[in-house]
Amino acid sequence: MSEAALNNPLIPLLATVRAVYPETEAADVRSFHVTLDGRATFWFLPGQCAMLSVLGVGESMISITSSPTRPEFLQFSVKNAGRVTGALHDLREGARIGVRGPYGNHFPLDLLAGKNILFVGGGIGLAPLRSLVGYCLDHRDDYGRVDIVYGARSPADLCFKTDIFERWPAAQDTSVHVTVDRGDDAWRGSVGFVPAFLESLAPSSENAVAVTCGPPVMIKFVLAALAKLGFPDDRVVTTLELKMQCGVGICGRCNIGPKYVCLDGPVFTVAELKKLPQEF
Ligand SMILES: Cc1cc2nc3c(=O)[nH]c(=O)nc-3n(C[C@H](O)[C@H](O)[C@H](O)COP(=O)(O)OP(=O)(O)OC[C@H]3O[C@@H](n4cnc5c(N)ncnc54)[C@H](O)[C@@H]3O)c2cc1C
Ligand code: FES
Repeated sequence: MSEAALNNPLIPLLATVRAVYPETEAADVRSFHVTLDGRATFWFLPGQCAMLSVLGVGESMISITSSPTRPEFLQFSVKNAGRVTGALHDLREGARIGVRGPYGNHFPLDLLAGKNILFVGGGIGLAPLRSLVGYCLDHRDDYGRVDIVYGARSPADLCFKTDIFERWPAAQDTSVHVTVDRGDDAWRGSVGFVPAFLESLAPSSENAVAVTCGPPVMIKFVLAALAKLGFPDDRVVTTLELKMQCGVGICGRCNIGPKYVCLDGPVFTVAELKKLPQEF
């Protein structure tokens, strides 16, 4: 590939799938480890996304799930939602895909520095948060306590099980709190929706920032719970998932008022969102 093509954010870089594995029991979410071919490099920060393309099928915007502190491969975790994501799910180790990006802003690392961090994720919504959790744990001395609240519909739907049950609870000053909407015979953990579970945990808002991502209905009630717990709007961060096409502010698919989610987002504080038309 020419130098010009390497520097053009609209031209996909060729990449190879190094590993594919199911995250959930039903395999409706799969994780992909991907490396770029040749000399290409990809520098990103937690919260950014990439357009993944399946040759001959199309493209989808997907969050980068791995942390930039672990550059051996890019990880993407993809829910099978339709044409492109379904085609991604059909790929196996060794398959070639296109990757363009990184796109969007990133989590506000300046705001998070020195603070306690409360992560609140639901389902596949843990994917973008996972990149930031990894980043914070790899820069452990720059942050205070880390609390991760995560929920899914059932134990079979929990993603990133090695992280939530093994890696993250073993990290210094880090706790993971998991809930499911409905348990099964083997489940001994909490049962209940994420917002109510969060309220029952009552994490302190003092010197803390909350970062949340999940289905829109969960986010709506989580934001209300965080407000009740005393988190001010400028210390609550979330990500938006609008439909996207170009990823670079050209096609106009993803705008909310004057903002393009692909350029100015997908990461916003609640204070920023409240200044926008409520079209999302
Ligand atoms: C910033 C951002 C980050 C994302 N990160 C991830 C991620 O990490 N993992 C992941 O699995 N998915 C993620 N998504 C969602 C993903 O882009 C869509 O699920 C995917 O593009 C659907 O494409 P498809 O061709 O498979 O489905 P299609 O066949 O195009 O559509 C299937 C159905 O999904 C709906 N749909 C398509 N795109 C979206 C969207 N963006 N939001 C809501 N509904 C949509 C369609 O209206 C249709 O009903 C992200 C989206 C954005 C904008
Ligand atoms: S996706 Fe085209 S302008 Fe945002």
